[in-house]
Amino acid sequence: MEIQKYLLVSINSTEMVNNNKMLSENAIITELVPAPPESGSVCAIAIRFDKEHLLDVENILQKNKSAIKGIYPEKKMKLAGFLEKKLGLISEDFIKIVNKIIVGDDLDIVQIDYLLSTDNKKEIETIFSLADTIRQKTVGDVVEIRAAIEFSNYCKKACSYCGINRTNQIINRYRMSDEDILRTVGELDKIGIKTVILQSGEDEQISIPFLMAIMRSIKETYNMRITLSVGEKTFEEYKTLKEAGADNFLLKIETTNKEIFKEIHPDDDYDYRVQCHKWLKELGYITGSGNMIGLPGQKTIDIASDIVFFKEMGINMIGVGPFIPAQGTRFEELPHGSVDLTLRTVAVTRIVCKNVYIPATTALASLDKEAQVMALNAGANSVMLISTPENLRKNYCIYDNKNMIDINSALYAINKAKRKIPAYIKSNEGANLCE
Ligand code: 5AD
Repeated sequence: MEIQKYLLVSINSTEMVNNNKMLSENAIITELVPAPPESGSVCAIAIRFDKEHLLDVENILQKNKSAIKGIYPEKKMKLAGFLEKKLGLISEDFIKIVNKIIVGDDLDIVQIDYLLSTDNKKEIETIFSLADTIRQKTVGDVVEIRAAIEFSNYCKKACSYCGINRTNQIINRYRMSDEDILRTVGELDKIGIKTVILQSGEDEQISIPFLMAIMRSIKETYNMRITLSVGEKTFEEYKTLKEAGADNFLLKIETTNKEIFKEIHPDDDYDYRVQCHKWLKELGYITGSGNMIGLPGQKTIDIASDIVFFKEMGINMIGVGPFIPAQGTRFEELPHGSVDLTLRTVAVTRIVCKNVYIPATTALASLDKEAQVMALNAGANSVMLISTPENLRKNYCIYDNKNMIDINSALYAINKAKRKIPAYIKSNEGANLCE
């Protein structure tokens, strides 16, 4: 029989880290996972433990006077009545899988691969419809809007796919000053943005104190949440950055196929990247990962393995984008990844990982103007603006024809997908663009 699990949701990430430490010190085995929807904390982290420890946990928390949001029995999400509506020409294997999804059981990797690879039209329709239903029940209809500032395109690494890799001679390099970064954050504040993503190549000239100072100013002046996306660091560096105010960290695994990982990341070690994710979780970051679809040699079973990885690592934000060749890289002549398979991956990721953030990625929008709308309909629930100053943006060419996502195009996509604009957004211009 399966053991009933419980989820402890703390009032903030610092308390979460403290509580987790306290429980571990009392020999209680815990896991960090995305918080359940009923705790009202999308994108927070919950501490999971077995039912047998419930009383102990309550006692320990009480003794230490820990402030918590609540303790919830972990529920399976049931979608009763779903299959009856979808009867058609579908296989028995598929019915088995859907039944598992409906009662809230976890799928195994073979079943996930089936969902990614079936070409039965009725089954595909059902997959997208399940993803949309689960998206609606877990994260609701509001589409979160975040904004990225790509503040440096210097990079010490030579990733085969990436247009800003160190070997690419055909691009102009730039590094924004702290003033320019803050000015850009100020513009985002005017339109109501609440989370800024500071992204760069792995630039050795960007020091930890520089990032700390920028984050301090952003917090003091605008009180925004900060997502860092600055690559692999040491435990100590991640710790210092967390203490200086970073809330979230994006570090994509890109693929869990170790051979492909090595092929595309000649400077990187797969196990170190996974270790980084474990540290980030341990330090209380909300973590983001993701993959690219259409890498050379990649099969659907590899993508299924990526999805299992996101689930097992308790990743909160999962960006799925097609590979797009970039000029000046070793991969410049390769074909781009399929939009359909990317959308399917978004849907299956939502079905498997449930209560997570899934952006309708810029890479998708770059291949097909309408793909962002399609991604929102396939399980995605957020859009990232590209807010790098215009004169620099063209040099952050991680891939060719990178689309410009501004507030208007984001609002257009949200309206067209018939979804809700967050209350914090002050600009309403996009509404006029809705057909
Ligand atoms: N095609 C698609 N996505 C890319 N990225 C980088 N280069 C490419 C490319 N050629 C994505 C990676 C990276 C993110 C910043 O952009 O997923 O993590």
